[in-house]
This record gives sequence, C-alpha cells and structure tokens, in this order.
Amino acid sequence: MKIFKHKISLWKEILSVKNLSFVPTMGDLHNGHIYLIKKAKRKNCKVIVSLFVNPKQFNSKKDFKSYPKDIKKDLKILKKLKVNYVYIPSFRDIYNFKPKNKIYLDKFSKKLCGKFRKNHFLGVVNVVNRLLEIINPRFIYLGKKDYQQLYLITRHLKKRNILTKVIPCKTIREKNGVACSSRNKNLTTQQIKIASNVYKLIKKNKLILKKSNNFKFKFMKISNYLKKLGVTKLDYLEMLNVQNLKKPKSKNEKFNIFIAYHLKNTRLIDNV
Ligand code: PAJ
Repeated sequence: MKIFKHKISLWKEILSVKNLSFVPTMGDLHNGHIYLIKKAKRKNCKVIVSLFVNPKQFNSKKDFKSYPKDIKKDLKILKKLKVNYVYIPSFRDIYNFKPKNKIYLDKFSKKLCGKFRKNHFLGVVNVVNRLLEIINPRFIYLGKKDYQQLYLITRHLKKRNILTKVIPCKTIREKNGVACSSRNKNLTTQQIKIASNVYKLIKKNKLILKKSNNFKFKFMKISNYLKKLGVTKLDYLEMLNVQNLKKPKSKNEKFNIFIAYHLKNTRLIDNV
C-alpha cells in the first residue's frame, strides 16, 4: 500500500494505471466504507482511497473541527484490505488549482438536505470534481446512504461529460438497523435505541404503504409517531421515487422514504 500526500507524486505513480477504482472518504472508516472498498477490490482494478475531511462541505466550523479523525486506525484498516493507494491531501493540494470542469449543481440540490445545509452540496461536488481531476479513475464508488449526494455527483459527471463511471453501493447497517455512520459515535445508548426504532418504524411502514389504499394518510401517521419515539427535531421525512426523485403518485412506483432528524446535537440521515 502506497501513501501519497501530494498530487504530483501521486500522478507519477498512477499515470500508467488504466483501471483505477476510487473510493472517496472523509476517513474515520467504518463498515459502510469497508463495504465500498471490498466491492471495488472485486473488480479487476487497482483501488485508491482518499482520506480528506473537506471543510467546504461543513455548515459550521464547530462541526468541521469535531469531525472524528484517526488516520492511524484508518491506515491499519486500509492495509488489511490491501488497498493499493491512499491519498491524504492537504487543503492546499486540493484547492490550489483551477479545475477544468465547472461545478454543475442539479436543482435537486435545493431539496431534502439542501434546504437545511446551505452550500453543503456545492462543497461536496466541488471536492469530488477536484479529486476526479487529480485521480482520473475509471470507477468511483459511492454509497446510497447519501442518496442525494450520489445523485448530484452522478448528474455533475453526466453534464460535464466526465467518463468516470459511478458504482452505487447499498447501505450497510448495524445489527439494530442503524446505518453505519461516523456520527453514530456521538450517540448515547439511549439514542442508539431511538435511531434503531426510527429505522424499524420506517421500514415497517414502507411495507404497509406498499400495500395501502390510502398512501398519503398512512404517511402522515409515521411523521407524528417519530416524535413519540424521542426524535428531538425532524428536518424532513419524504417519500420519493428513486429514479426521478419526484413524489410517487401510486404505491406501484419504486420509492424510498428519506429522513433527516436530530437526536440532541447529532443529525442523522437515512433512506429506506
Ligand atoms: P464519507 O461520509 O466518509 O463517506 C464516504 C462514502 O461512504 C460515501 O460514498 C458514502 O455514501 C459512503 N457511506 C457512508 N456510510 C455508508 C453506509 N452505511 N453504507 C454504505 N456506504 C456508506 O460522503 C462523504 O464522505 C463525503 O461527502 C465525500 C464524498 C468523501 C466528499 O467529501
């Protein structure tokens, strides 16, 4: 496993590598990240993982500063997974050049998390655009856990004719149903229980909704029940068709329930 901190030395190494699979991360690796990396390893490609906590996608300095960081532990995990390259850039290495491609931000960026986290997706697409210009991989692996992020990156690549192919990956969950996330570390045992109940409630109600004759009414009921479970604040709870991201008109469409909520100071997102 080779570790790079500067793009110039990275270029020297990967210039001749044709089939490169890229897994961008902000570090603090968990089973969700590990799944993406293992999936990338299965293809006949060399795998590069980036560890970069991107300040531009955080809404507050406090949130950025408190983001968990443990590079030593991450490197141990990556070594065990036999990743070929790790890129751990500085802020300068990412932001000291003008990218060829202008950021394209689809209007869906204004929905869901976009309503609550101003400029977050601009920051995400900006850093991914830059990482892709530096690395130029054949594939990029992204999790469906961050469905809106996955959608917006895919739209940017399509609009700017970037040839890197997006490989969407399923959401990895703990045994209790809670989606693996770096933010789970901030939860108390009681809050983990609530998060697990939220997942179970949504999962169960999705199945009920699929069979329901009164689609809208049943959905309203879930939203009321969430508060009873102990959710501090609900940012959104929406049903969206997974292809066109519009509100489904009938239970026959393939839809997911998208949620963002707070448990005291921790904000969690999921889609089921
Ligand atoms: P990060 O939160 O570290 O996530 C890195 C990748 O892992 C993303 O594609 C994310 O969707 C995926 N992921 C996270 N939790 C997952 C889970 N439980 N199951 C499956 N995949 C999961 O997302 C980011 O970093 C950043 O925004 C980034 C794309 C790196 C840009 O800075």
